[in-house]
Amino acid sequence: MEIQLWRSLLDPYALAVKELIIKFEHIRQEHKDKDLYSPVEQVSGRVKSVSSILEKMQRKEIPLDRMEEEIEDIAGVRIICQFEEDIDTVAALIRARSDMQVKSEKDYLKHIKQSGYRSYHLIVYYTVETLDGPRRLQVEIQIRTMAMNFWATVEHSLQYKYKGDIPPHVTDRLSNAADAIISLDHEMSSVRSEIMDAQVSSQMQTNLVRDILNTIENLYRLSNPREVTKIQDEFLRIFQTKDIQQLQRFQKELDIIAEGYRAQEVFL
Ligand code: GTP
Ligand code: MG
Repeated sequence: MEIQLWRSLLDPYALAVKELIIKFEHIRQEHKDKDLYSPVEQVSGRVKSVSSILEKMQRKEIPLDRMEEEIEDIAGVRIICQFEEDIDTVAALIRARSDMQVKSEKDYLKHIKQSGYRSYHLIVYYTVETLDGPRRLQVEIQIRTMAMNFWATVEHSLQYKYKGDIPPHVTDRLSNAADAIISLDHEMSSVRSEIMDAQVSSQMQTNLVRDILNTIENLYRLSNPREVTKIQDEFLRIFQTKDIQQLQRFQKELDIIAEGYRAQEVFL
């Protein structure tokens, strides 16, 4: 196939990856805006390189006209979670979406691969719009924890270095490391609720401060500067206490003040 043909063939896949990254990052943002813990920590994606596509076609004896059908990971999206429990949540979010249809799932958490590889995979159908009309493409979504990702990344580099034939002494080490990753994930799960609480409170404070500062900024337009400066000083004093309840109370009072000015404004 000519280079130009490869490019136009892969282009819709690049669009799918870009769109999906934005969509999964948005899920994270929606949680944060609503003071909720996000099961999505990080999102990345890539289009398979021509050389990996060719390598896979040779390895699996896939003819050119079956390529898009049989190579399910031309578009790949990876979702990294903090905790193992989050993986199920993310998979459920994907199953519930109307813009993706799940074709198949592979649970390498329940069925750990011989190599020690752990991850949850879904192949989904996703439609992109092109100048030639809609294109329904397959996308591989991998969901794993940060710890699983660390292991898989390192193992993948070693596969590459040893051309898929990792010597036994290295395999043993990787296998030990895979076990260590399992206990690390379990250890982290045991403090999950505490970590979630901490992250939610920190996000709440961020959102609260953002909202308070917005209100103060609006007050500058409506009320006299001296009064707003007083309010701002009061805000800084409360901010220093690091007491989220005091901040919440301050926000309520501020809203009442702002509401008062807005009511006046109507009559101006
Ligand atoms: P390929 O492995 O891609 O040829 O496809 P497959 O049909 O065997 O699917 P599988 O679910 O085994 O693998 C899909 C993807 O998961 C791979 O492309 C890798 O990104 C990842 N993966 C699977 N097994 C391993 C592994 O042992 N180590 C690492 N690092 N990644 C793996
Ligand atoms: Mg494989």
